[in-house]
Amino acid sequence: MNNNKNWWRDSIGYIIYPESFKDSNGDGIGDIQGIISKLDYLHDLGVNLLWICPLFDSPMDDNGYDVSDYYRINPRFGTNEDFKTLLEEAHRRDIRILIDFVLNHTSDEHPWFQMALRNENSKERGYYFFRKGKRDENGELLPPNNWKGFFATSAWKQVEGSDDFYLHIFSEKMPDVNWGNPELRERYYEIARFYLDMGVDGFRLDALAHLAKDLSFSDSDKEADASGLVLDTDKFSNRPELFAYLAEFKEKVFSHYDCLTVGEVGGEISPQNSLLFSDREKGSINMVFNFDTVWDNGAYGSIDKTDEEIRTNLIELKQNFKKWYDVCHEHADMPLYWCNHDHPRVLSQYGDVRFRNESAKMLLTTLLFMYGTPFIYNGDEIGMSNVRWEKPEDFYGDVGNKNSVKYWRRQGYSEEEIVRFLNRSSRINARTPFQWENAPYAGFSNVEPFERVNDNYKEGVNALDEMNDPWSIINFSQYAIYKRRLPEIKEIIDKGSWDILDIRHPDVFAYMHEYNGQRLIVVSNFRPYNVFFSFYYRIHDVILHNYDNVLLDDHVFTLRPFECFLLKV
Ligand code: GLC
Ligand code: CA
Repeated sequence: MNNNKNWWRDSIGYIIYPESFKDSNGDGIGDIQGIISKLDYLHDLGVNLLWICPLFDSPMDDNGYDVSDYYRINPRFGTNEDFKTLLEEAHRRDIRILIDFVLNHTSDEHPWFQMALRNENSKERGYYFFRKGKRDENGELLPPNNWKGFFATSAWKQVEGSDDFYLHIFSEKMPDVNWGNPELRERYYEIARFYLDMGVDGFRLDALAHLAKDLSFSDSDKEADASGLVLDTDKFSNRPELFAYLAEFKEKVFSHYDCLTVGEVGGEISPQNSLLFSDREKGSINMVFNFDTVWDNGAYGSIDKTDEEIRTNLIELKQNFKKWYDVCHEHADMPLYWCNHDHPRVLSQYGDVRFRNESAKMLLTTLLFMYGTPFIYNGDEIGMSNVRWEKPEDFYGDVGNKNSVKYWRRQGYSEEEIVRFLNRSSRINARTPFQWENAPYAGFSNVEPFERVNDNYKEGVNALDEMNDPWSIINFSQYAIYKRRLPEIKEIIDKGSWDILDIRHPDVFAYMHEYNGQRLIVVSNFRPYNVFFSFYYRIHDVILHNYDNVLLDDHVFTLRPFECFLLKV
């Protein structure tokens, strides 16, 4: 295994959503043995760092992000022994493993919460946020404040038979834990040590931005939605106490291990403030995933827009990458990603299924050769795309979507509008079974899977058929990853300067690394039509290209739909 200090800077990450990756025991649900059976596939692809979405015991209200026992692997995914085997087998192949660590909340079925509910005087009561509701003038009981959670409901749920409410910024089955409680913090440090001692290589820290809340629990005075609630992330994101908690976590746990910590940091954080987390000297974790580069096509919150109005705002996308790079790269390590289990497929967002092959390759190249540690979302390497869903109930596998459907129906949106919007924005799109081959259920399982399979596995969108096609997305992905890992290329990316070329160009994403007189350039067309791009460099080498000939005439490229190059100039 690569034991260099800061090994993650040499890593290519890969995100596994376990439920839909590979079923080994014929129950239609992906599992740990399924992942083990695909480690050779992942090794051949060239990735060497896996982030696996939560595997802990859970009633699966939010698909594993609602943990009921941190020390037990969810039986639907396997056993603790299976997990240890996964670690060993992965390490044998030089692949490291990050587990998804959910710190902001537990399941309401977790014994801590059960005890907290049963006994107001228990120490566990102090692990959560319980507050008295308010009475309006008619004596009706209301939540303690007007906060709205991320899943389209009030952030408070009444405790049955009492005036008390508990805080949940995600689903009502996910009560937020109180990081201000020192004993609660110790509980989490114990869990972290347990897994680090077992051999995991680090953590993706879920919903990390939200650990500290505004403890005054005052109403938000921002604009309320139709039900009088406000999703005011300032009330529970990136607040000062959070950084003290993390400093303690580092001192007590992380600093004693050779581990990677990657925080999920939403809540509209600026690059400057992200350094409070990940500054190489002063921060407490190694990197943060930001949200600025994942919805630059306007699809987020766009229920009032038609599909035609959704279009990648490429200038904004480029500016977002640039702003993060400019502020952070000298001070912090950075991850790169287009998509994870919370997003629709990037091919359907920034690419185009009519140009599946070209756009999948273009997106991979554009991301892979930027500065940072790339994370590829499972299935993107074979060009998986969104599904065409038919009715609102098709999205009920996601508790957030389910709540939203109810909310929009109350607002009077038509079924058609709801389905159109969720088709393009729902994270269910990223959670359909992995397409391994052209066999029943795409070779994911031998029985009907828990979630619908995208039919396009029959049209060649599957790993096995692609492996047999030299021009396929998967073969390109493998080759591109191989190139990305070559020391001579890595050096230019890691040590050189980086800048975007012609950032005002509305259709082309082009950038250049320069190191010791060597230049590496990526030129990518983000549109399904031909565009022109001025180019004044002499090409020494075409390292990657997704068409089979180059159209460069008198310093002007004619770039065909989603055409993309990686060049040495
Ligand atoms: C993170 C996860 C998401 C989950 C939420 C609550 O955003 O990525 O899937 O729903 O946290 O845990
Ligand atoms: Ca299974």
